[in-house]
Amino acid sequence: MSQLSPNAVAESDLAKGAVCIRAADASDVESLLIYFTGLSTTTRNKRFMGARTDVAMVAAECVARASHPDHFTLLAELRQEGQGTIIGETLYVYDAVARQGEFAISVADLFQRRGLGLQMMMEMEMRASDLGHGMIAAETARVNAEMRGLAKKAGFVDTGLGDWQSVHFAKSLSRQSSSR
Ligand SMILES: CC(C)(COP(=O)(O)OP(=O)(O)OC[C@H]1O[C@@H](n2cnc3c(N)ncnc32)[C@H](O)[C@@H]1OP(=O)(O)O)[C@@H](O)C(=O)NCCC(=O)NCCS
Repeated sequence: MSQLSPNAVAESDLAKGAVCIRAADASDVESLLIYFTGLSTTTRNKRFMGARTDVAMVAAECVARASHPDHFTLLAELRQEGQGTIIGETLYVYDAVARQGEFAISVADLFQRRGLGLQMMMEMEMRASDLGHGMIAAETARVNAEMRGLAKKAGFVDTGLGDWQSVHFAKSLSRQSSSR
């Protein structure tokens, strides 16, 4: 898929509803690679909790999840002039042993702090609930104020299982099925 530069995107596009959140499939590998490559070093390092150079492998792993019934990747896609540009992603993986879902999330630098992260979290929770999952948990660096703020706003609570470097938070899901 050809891509517009996120920098070329008008600020009003989010307000115009040109952004959709959808599940990734195998055809999204290249777009996801472009997305990860375009993130600032800071955002990419926060997303992966450290430096990663194998983003092509990560992109492939994300879409491979689509074939697993208990895992998924959500993409926030900006649709503009017939073209789609990925501006956010959420990877969700279910741990059957721990009986909880785990996730990682990122939003393109230019689109941060506009509510997109929260929208993706809510969509993730609905899908996880539809799959019958009762709990979602995640871990982030203690210094990651954005993720800690987002988790708190989404209703996650600090479990106290983190250490001096990381915070572990979790949320119990009510079994409300989405209307999709
Ligand atoms: C964390 C992240 C996904 C948040 O996405 P976002 O779209 O910017 O978040 P939202 O706009 O939906 O913000 C929702 C809430 O999160 C909190 N938040 C978001 N950015 C914040 C910041 N920079 N500082 C403090 N709190 C912040 C706020 O409570 C915010 O609500 P408010 O705007 O009403 O105050 C984004 O900052 C990001 O991609 N960070 C880098 C990757 C990362 O850290 N991922 C987490 C590890 S997997």
